[in-house]
Amino acid sequence: MRKVLAALLASAMVFSLAACGGGDKKETEAATEAPATEAPATEAATEAAGDTEAATEAATEAAGDTQAAPAANGEGLKIGVCIYKFDDNFMTLYRQELQKYLEETYGAEVTIVDGKGDQAEQTNQIDNFISQGVDVLILNLVQASATETVAKTCADAGIPAVFINREPDAAELERWESEGVAATYVGADARQSGTFQGEIILDTANKGDINGDGKVSYIMLIGDPENVDAQYRTEFSVKALTDAGVEVEELFAQRGDWDQAKGQELTANALAQFGDQVEVVFANNDAMALGAIEAIEAEQRKMNEDIYLVGVDALDEATAAIKEGRMTGTVLNDHIGQSHTAADVAIKMANGEKVDTKYTVDYVKVTE
Ligand code: GAL
Repeated sequence: MRKVLAALLASAMVFSLAACGGGDKKETEAATEAPATEAPATEAATEAAGDTEAATEAATEAAGDTQAAPAANGEGLKIGVCIYKFDDNFMTLYRQELQKYLEETYGAEVTIVDGKGDQAEQTNQIDNFISQGVDVLILNLVQASATETVAKTCADAGIPAVFINREPDAAELERWESEGVAATYVGADARQSGTFQGEIILDTANKGDINGDGKVSYIMLIGDPENVDAQYRTEFSVKALTDAGVEVEELFAQRGDWDQAKGQELTANALAQFGDQVEVVFANNDAMALGAIEAIEAEQRKMNEDIYLVGVDALDEATAAIKEGRMTGTVLNDHIGQSHTAADVAIKMANGEKVDTKYTVDYVKVTE
């Protein structure tokens, strides 16, 4: 089963990587097409939820499959990595895998620093890396809106930059392309994750309309309104329902900063205010969804009977909750594929190779 799963995930990733060579137009097409090509991914995901370890292993194998043999030796290369904040469940998995892969596969010298959610602090850290003369920077910016300034600082210093996780503006990516800037973005298309969340709800017995009043009444736990992942997940989860002709009603939408405790607090508030009217909880990520589970269980609501809950990331705790019937579904945010792609591209750039301006890794639906 593991081999089959690995092959399915590998083909999903090959599709994604193939789709990203030609810049933004193809990206948008790929995003629109993605739901239609989801069949193998869905099957893989269904199996994956039943076997989290196998899923992780398969993702690792799959990531390995799409990466050609390391492009060049990374021995002696100094790599600076800036993470927006260490206290983030998904980015913790990502940075640990990134470090391990860069060291074990390439023998690179990796230093990772914590931006603590403060752009000014992170800008200092970037300046420090530049004065230390690192060979390449991998950057998970606190504010995606700082991308242009940071890209210019790196270019002036002659240091290539790999931006990860928080997608820069399309105009900035076009600038890199047209001016030949040594910068690239590696991430995932958050529209796809939102669409998959909506489709998970559409796949339930009553398409999310538990009380049969002709509309799906939902609450939205937003990661961070400045973050494109949060914006797209918020928009496209609901759009999947309306595109399928389902009427929706937003009862509540508030910012939870990707954080479990805030997810709990917001859901408790929403349930206190709207009670049984709440049929669906959309959480922009699993950490907030795990908080929502606490609030839902405190109200004695019955998961998948009188309420649905979907997240994104496929954290182990979330896939375990799905298996136990305490959460409806999630969407795998492939930190292994993304971190390996970011590392491979960084090594190529540090060795002076030209790379594309954007690489994306597919999301995968995960349900019981
Ligand atoms: C998202 C992820 C969230 C959070 C965020 C940080 O892709 O789903 O859990 O880590 O990135 O920017």
